[in-house]
Amino acid sequence: MHQNLHIPKICCTFARFLRIKVLDMTILERAAALKQQVEAMKAANADELEALRLKYLSKKGEISLLFDEFKSVPKEEKAVLGAPINQLRQLAEARFNELKEQIANAVAAQTVAKEDLTRTPEPIALGSRHPLSLVREEIIDIFSRIGFTVADGPEVEDDKHVFSLLNFAPEHPARDMQDTFFIEKEEGVQKPTDILLRTHTSSVQTRVMTSQKPPIRVLCPGRVFRNEAISARAHCFFHQVEGLYIDKNVSFADLREALLYFAKEMFGPDTKIRLRPSYFPFTEPSAEMDISCDLCGGKGCSFCKGTGWVEILGCGMVDPNVLESCGIDSKVYTGYAFGMGVERIANLKYRVKDLRLFSENDVRFLQQFESC
Ligand code: DAH
Repeated sequence: MHQNLHIPKICCTFARFLRIKVLDMTILERAAALKQQVEAMKAANADELEALRLKYLSKKGEISLLFDEFKSVPKEEKAVLGAPINQLRQLAEARFNELKEQIANAVAAQTVAKEDLTRTPEPIALGSRHPLSLVREEIIDIFSRIGFTVADGPEVEDDKHVFSLLNFAPEHPARDMQDTFFIEKEEGVQKPTDILLRTHTSSVQTRVMTSQKPPIRVLCPGRVFRNEAISARAHCFFHQVEGLYIDKNVSFADLREALLYFAKEMFGPDTKIRLRPSYFPFTEPSAEMDISCDLCGGKGCSFCKGTGWVEILGCGMVDPNVLESCGIDSKVYTGYAFGMGVERIANLKYRVKDLRLFSENDVRFLQQFESC
């Protein structure tokens, strides 16, 4: 390498000439050789690149050593040698940066390849489940634990399944157009037909009873329609869950037990229930069920209007007339039924004061249920 060191210093001028000649050839030649190496530099990864940096560009690298030697070259030679070794260093730095960028790009490409490119860009707006869906699912979940399955029926129904089979008298006010939406047979002709929007999910009871044999144990969730003016407390459509259990020896005590279980599961283990006598055409006896007001613990507050109780559903033993009309022998089978409003239960759980919020799709309202 340092061939100049082996040159004997014979005569001052000659030796100086010779030395410089050798020295300068050496530097130039090595610069040329290094230039070739630098141009051929290749690195597949960061480690290989670092090895190149150490070999050529670090303080003890070959190019730096060349510069060290250059320092001891006589002035007049510097002018000749300076440019090529400076160019060499620039070339090496440029090549090094080029390789560095290539490696960075390759790493980035690999990372991208591992990511799911079908993913929505951040931030992902998480949707929320509608409070009515949450409550409906919870009701279904509670009753499914005691053997109830889910049955479905149409929203556009006929008089038979909504009223007649359920023991509604022909002149019953529910059949009035003020209460029920009838489907017009001819456009613009508003006369009652027997096609209507179901007013309650009890219609699914009749569909199940006329198509299945006991034992029957079903829940019928769904949307129902009534001809009501829309306000904070009433809407022209809302949701119900109907329950029906028919078998041999089903009693009112079974009904009470199932509903007590439901109330405790839904509203907490301290919840009490009370059944008040009531009337529905399709059940006999009929009752309305209240639960103890969980806001005041039954002491009486503005929410329960001072009574300590809030009404949540209607229920009763299926009227034998209904069983018979649906082809079930009322001497062999008995059954209970109940029906509740999903909005009503959601109100009790979430204290939603205005019923309209459930159907207006205001995201500020819906987002409150995000964590549920
Ligand atoms: N169908 C009734 C209504 O819409 C609710 C109801 C009451 C359903 C008593 C029942 C029942 O099954 O037994 O108001």
